Amino acid sequence: MKIAVFASGNGSNFQVIAEQFPVEFVFADHRDAYVLKRAKNLGVQTYAFELKEFDSKQAYEEAIIALLNKHAIDLVVLAGYMKIVGPPLLAAYEGRIINIHPAYLPEFPGAHGIEDAWKAGVAESGVTVHWVDSGVDTGQVIKQVRVPRLAEDTIESFEARIHDNEYQLYPAVLENLGVERKVD
Ligand code: GRF
Repeated sequence: MKIAVFASGNGSNFQVIAEQFPVEFVFADHRDAYVLKRAKNLGVQTYAFELKEFDSKQAYEEAIIALLNKHAIDLVVLAGYMKIVGPPLLAAYEGRIINIHPAYLPEFPGAHGIEDAWKAGVAESGVTVHWVDSGVDTGQVIKQVRVPRLAEDTIESFEARIHDNEYQLYPAVLENLGVERKVD
């Protein structure tokens, strides 16, 4: 089962995944995304191009689909990919795209799941891995975990606990979906 990881920025989830699973390639929608440095250090092939370099989002996604087809990718793993998946990519790959979200969906969807949960003063939030559909963080949940907010937390310590849970949950889900771990 061949996976590609899509990210827009930092790429810490990509790093955790690539340390444990063979990643066919990383795609970044920003040419200066830090995830590209992580990939080079790990010897993972990279592609990067930006929506603004295309005439339309359709053309941009068609270029992505061409990469997925070229590499015969079975599963697209979104990890901090900040674009909504549009109709062309969904038509080609729906049911084969997963995403990780730093909250317990359907609580706190959108781009600021950690901050929104923090500001709402919740006693617990969580992490969710879900199938991607045409909505924003609305696809069917695959697996989710609760993450407590502790009385002594700052937003930084709360955020770090959320990320630590992401680093556990995403590899566990990949394994359950049948992605084989690296052999040393
Ligand atoms: C993660 O919190 C993920 O849940 C969200 O974006 C963040 C990406 O972080 N979708 P990183 O790029 O993997 O460090």
